[in-house]
Parts: sequence; structure tokens; C-alpha cells
Amino acid sequence: MSVSQLRLGVNIDHVATVRNARGGSYPDPVRAAHLAVDAGADGITAHLREDRRHIRDADIAALRASLAVPLNFEMAATDEMVRLAIDTRPHAACLVPEKREERTTEGGLDIVGGRAHLAPRIRALAEAGIRVSLFVEPEPAVMEAARALGAPVVELHTGSYCEAALDGDEAALAHELARIRRAAAHGAGIGLEIHAGHGLTTGSVGPVAALPEILELNIGHALIAEAIFVGLPQAIRDMRAAMDRARTGSAR
Ligand code: PXP
Repeated sequence: MSVSQLRLGVNIDHVATVRNARGGSYPDPVRAAHLAVDAGADGITAHLREDRRHIRDADIAALRASLAVPLNFEMAATDEMVRLAIDTRPHAACLVPEKREERTTEGGLDIVGGRAHLAPRIRALAEAGIRVSLFVEPEPAVMEAARALGAPVVELHTGSYCEAALDGDEAALAHELARIRRAAAHGAGIGLEIHAGHGLTTGSVGPVAALPEILELNIGHALIAEAIFVGLPQAIRDMRAAMDRARTGSAR
């Protein structure tokens, strides 16, 4: 299989979290988005949560109006968010599970149990010309369910893999990477476009970036965290370099 260019989507939610800590307008997530694009981001991701704890409606509108790269609108599958997405027309909508009490998106969507709830919302987004992606656990059966729902894209949840990497648990790491590899191969084989993300760092991104079926990674926390020390453009260049090294190595 030829190895195509791996896209980097930069998630800017944490910039909005810092802004909201003081209630003003600084730092501006839209400015961060433009800086990220200048540093090599192929797209920008922003999650408008039901409780608006970080990104706000006005951020989404400003991003949509000013970005020249694709905007990936992360959202819960609710009527309110579907309406907002259809009004905004981002390039893509990534449907995620959302619980008020969670700190971040903790698991993939239950697309088997949630089929009746998800199907009409996926259809409405697709009819508006928005590319729908489902944030899911990396399992072949889930790939089948995503395809049955008519979603063209899945984003594989890399959270368990990244936790194993942080714990230094080699057996769990190998197990989680094998799950991602199997799901990516199965999903691509049945025609899905495969993305991945959650928890990735420059230390853990390599083996995932090397999987040829994966076309896009969405990364936020590690980039904004590193930006504190080296600045956002450098953090993005470092991540890009780690991705490209792994990708090029896998093509040899
Ligand atoms: N992809 C999805 C669907 C997410 O919900 C998140 C977290 O907002 C990410 C990717 C990025 O995860 P992280 O911030 O840990 O890099």
C-alpha cells in the first residue's frame, strides 16, 4: 500500500480554556488557529461542548469565517449541535460522546447501541454537505457499524494506547497498538477514511503515524502543553517532525 501524506489537525480547545479562566478575550483561540496553520497544521479542530466550557459559539463562527484550512467541528450528536453545524457548514463534523462530568472525551461513541439516535443526525449533516466522522473505539465490529450508519470517516480513539505509553506498560502498549492496527486495516478495507487521536504526544505518536491506513491525526493537549515551554509554532513543528519521521520510516 502506498503511504499517503498524514494530515495534522490541531485542537485549540485548551486555548479557550485559558481564556475563559479570566473571563476576557485573551488568549484568542482564533489567533492560535492561524499560528497553528502557519506552523504546519493541515486543519483546525474545535469542540463546542454543550456547557460551552471552552470553545464558544462565536469562536466557531470566527474560525469558519477566517480559516483557509478545513475546520473540524467536534460535537455531541444533539439537535442543538446539528442545527449549529448546519448553520456554520464546517468542512467536517466529528461526533463524540459527551458527559457533563468528564474532563475530556473519555471513550468512543456507542454506535451500536446509539444507532437510532445517530442515524438521522448523521444523515442531516451529510445532506448539508458536511463530512461526518465518528469518534469510536478501535474495533473491527465498530468499523462495520460505522459503515452501516453511512459515515465516511472514523476517528479511532487512541486514549488507551496513550495511557499504556505513559504507564510504560509494554504488554498493554503492544495490545492497544494491535487493536488500532487491526481496526485501521479493517476500516480502510471496507472503504472508511481512517483518522485517529486523543492523548497523543511526540513520544507516542510514531507507531500510530506509521500505520499507512491512517490519514489524519487530531492532537490538542500535548501541543498546547508543550507550547508553554517552546511556543505553539515550535510544538507543532516538533509534532509534525515526529509524525513525518514515523511515516517515512514505514514507507521504506
Ligand atoms: N479527537 C477527539 C475526538 C477528541 O475529543 C480529542 C480531545 O478533545 C482529541 C482528538 C484530541 O485529544 P488530545 O487533546 O488529548 O490530543
